Amino acid sequence: MEQTPGGRTGPPSTPRTAVIWSVLRAELDRRAGDRLTVLDVGGGTGGFAVPLAQAGHRVTVVDASPDALAALTRRAAEAGVAQGVRAVQGDGDALAGLVEPASVDLVLCHSVLEVVDDPAPVVSALVTALRPGGAASVLVAGRAAAVFGRAMNGHLALAAALAADPTGAAGPRDTLRRRYDADRAAALLTAGGLVVEEIHGVRVLADLIPAAVADGQSTALVELERALAARPPYRDLAAQLHLFARRPA
Ligand SMILES: C[S@@+](CC[C@H](N)C(=O)[O-])C[C@H]1O[C@@H](n2cnc3c(N)ncnc32)[C@H](O)[C@@H]1O
Repeated sequence: MEQTPGGRTGPPSTPRTAVIWSVLRAELDRRAGDRLTVLDVGGGTGGFAVPLAQAGHRVTVVDASPDALAALTRRAAEAGVAQGVRAVQGDGDALAGLVEPASVDLVLCHSVLEVVDDPAPVVSALVTALRPGGAASVLVAGRAAAVFGRAMNGHLALAAALAADPTGAAGPRDTLRRRYDADRAAALLTAGGLVVEEIHGVRVLADLIPAAVADGQSTALVELERALAARPPYRDLAAQLHLFARRPA
């Protein structure tokens, strides 16, 4: 475990999470001393929820999967923060009734908007849950990395389809319903009523380099990911795009 600047514990830095935690820590530091109400929509097994509870915040995870919520509950208990994590089965676009409107300081929605039927109602529900001035951490799949990935594996027709498809999906066998370019992701949040403050690329390089290099030079890789994350064109080639946005006060 590593210490945050505020002295709170957090998970080890990995290329998958380091950039996101850097952004979240800035918000947590800004609110240092406050016990935040956090909502993690589609939070799964609690990779972010449990460390946030360990840092002293009150976290509700709303997820459609009972199995994921059971794993989350076990993980929270093992980490000694069962009291700080509430697991709720539900749908991301139907938060009313599960979460008090305008009650949440920080909402997370990571790797969800690319799998739901329709992302706009989910964004709208996130905004309704947020207090004015509250922040949203949204992680979506990037389109450009997927185009490159298909092409580099020899699937040129799929790469072409993915590049041309308005939603950034590649046919019926695609595991995701959509992928985003930075502009389109920002437009989705803006249309929902959020003000986008920062956009970072997550896994700019991590998926492209051999595993032996990633494992052997993990600290250097995390540093490089951090250095490139906010800088186009590197940012826009990342496997995922992280948007940090705020409901206007
Ligand atoms: C790819 S996982 C991401 C989990 C976690 N946010 C993370 O980043 O590790 C997607 C999660 O979203 C949940 N999910 C999918 N559709 C949902 C919906 N409509 N409402 C709530 N959760 C949903 C799934 O059950 C799953 O746990």
